[in-house]
Amino acid sequence: MIIPSYKPYLSKKEREYVHDALERGQISGDGYYTEKVSDFIEKSFGVWRVLMTTSGTHALEMTSILTRLEPEDEVIMPSFTFSSTANAVILRGAKPVFAEVNPDSLNIDPDDIERKITKKTKVIIPVHYAGVACEMDRIMAIARSHNLMVIEDAAQGVNSKYRGQYLGTIADFGCYSFHGTKNYTCGEGGALLINQESAQTIDKAEIIRQKGTNRCQFLRGDVNKYNWIDTGSSYSPSDLLMAVLLAQLEDMRVIKEKRKAVYNIYRNVLEQYEKRGILKMMWIPEECDPNYHIFWVVFNTEEIRDYVLTELNRRGVSASFHYLPLHSSPMGKNLGYKPNDLSVTEKSARCLLRLPLYAGMTESEIEYTMQGFKAVIGAL
Ligand SMILES: Cc1ncc(COP(=O)(O)O)c(C=O)c1O
Repeated sequence: MIIPSYKPYLSKKEREYVHDALERGQISGDGYYTEKVSDFIEKSFGVWRVLMTTSGTHALEMTSILTRLEPEDEVIMPSFTFSSTANAVILRGAKPVFAEVNPDSLNIDPDDIERKITKKTKVIIPVHYAGVACEMDRIMAIARSHNLMVIEDAAQGVNSKYRGQYLGTIADFGCYSFHGTKNYTCGEGGALLINQESAQTIDKAEIIRQKGTNRCQFLRGDVNKYNWIDTGSSYSPSDLLMAVLLAQLEDMRVIKEKRKAVYNIYRNVLEQYEKRGILKMMWIPEECDPNYHIFWVVFNTEEIRDYVLTELNRRGVSASFHYLPLHSSPMGKNLGYKPNDLSVTEKSARCLLRLPLYAGMTESEIEYTMQGFKAVIGAL
């Protein structure tokens, strides 16, 4: 049996909505479905303003422009994240400053954020790893006391909550991803969440997203022609993709419940190994209501992790690992980092294993994965 690491969950509505979008004949950006999706997110998650984007990466890039990042500015973020978090900053000439993670959650460590603040720090980007919230109360308090902006990289955190508030809606800006690997997907897509009640910020974001023009104002009928106003790029997704995404979001609750069921089985089966000190499972703090995006464990050594990974893969179970920390990547080394600069991150990444997790996982696929896991661990 082959168990992929992820698989999009499709209801029948995706086809119906895409067909309808084609019939409507307006398949470029900011059509009927784009508006439906942004309305849906604004209402469901309680967001001031949502702008749909072509990817989570592009939502992050927009925040770098909106926060006016300039050369010499420093942005604190975890090293344990995707390259997009750091690229967004580097593209503006600013400098990513990598902070440690808490080994139990693999989310950024607020104490290390404090240690890394300098006169040049402008922004903090917490990344909600695996859809489990960072310690946002502490992070927001640190940011406010140093007059810093906060951007939530909630690429993995759509439909997760922290103290009852949806991830992406807590800081100044939030960024979502709807990439094919995510819980709710249109293949490639994202969203920028603007949480500041500022018409000026919204105007600026709309202009950045529409190639530096005021096309959004034109579409609303506020101006009778549109013009080049400021710096910008092309960040609005095709309405065809938004048709797919609307169907996915309408099934949000079902998808989350199905993922939760898989997560709970994994947790119950693996508990015995945690008790025996063979592995440690991901920790979900009480104040977090996650979306069950990832199920991860860490082993005591990289050798054991590699052995389990190879053996599961040999049985057709696509267990995987990530991220290769940014500070010890070739680019991180160019920025002057050494692997030991962030030893908790380095060790965690080397010992981490992810198990396949998707909404449509069948009972026999779950059973096969767990039987494989037990057999591999039994042979250790
Ligand atoms: C933490 C994080 N940030 C940003 C991104 C980029 O999102 P996208 O693939 O939609 O550009 C990802 C993608 O996996 C991610 O995991």
